[in-house]
Amino acid sequence: MILKIITSNPGKVREYREALSSFGIGTEHVRIPYDEIQTSDLTEVVGNGMRCLKSAGISDFIIDDSGLFIDSLNGFPGVFSAYALKAIGNSGILKLMDNVNERSADFRCCIGCNIDGKDIIVLGRCDGIILKKEAGTEGFGFDPIFSQDGRRSFAEIPVTEKNKISHRGNAVRLLVDELRKIF
Ligand code: IMP
Repeated sequence: MILKIITSNPGKVREYREALSSFGIGTEHVRIPYDEIQTSDLTEVVGNGMRCLKSAGISDFIIDDSGLFIDSLNGFPGVFSAYALKAIGNSGILKLMDNVNERSADFRCCIGCNIDGKDIIVLGRCDGIILKKEAGTEGFGFDPIFSQDGRRSFAEIPVTEKNKISHRGNAVRLLVDELRKIF
């Protein structure tokens, strides 16, 4: 089975390649722009993206919409994660959390998968904290400021280890469970 990974984010491609290959699923990276609607629900963004791609005749693919939800910021940046990263970056998020002791946050990853004419949508989650300063050079996006174990950031662990605990890794495991019901 080969799935097209439709994204412009090479960091996501690396993680999908590693996670899916361990289940014997091959991947092909494809960049195809699709509409990303503004809504407070990751699954709605993914559902709409899937409809756009299918109506363009594209099949057997994965798309991914993810976000970082910080409790003390009432879930910000959440669905605005991409915008927040561009506008204020990790340093801006850390500034917003200066002197904030309550640092819990969670990453969410919604995967939309079309395979053999069927649609599967799964949501993976990873609970953790926002570190006080950036650490590490692996990964992408918010990885230097997020830690699942409270010690090392996602940017300080190799992709294989991130996939074992991350929102995306958890979403892939849910996806594989669904695929096993079909095939
Ligand atoms: P997207 O809209 O799904 O591409 O993601 C929203 C923002 O969250 C983007 O700026 C990504 O870089 C960031 N992001 C998504 N997944 C991760 C992750 O696993 N680690 C760090 N940042 C992420």
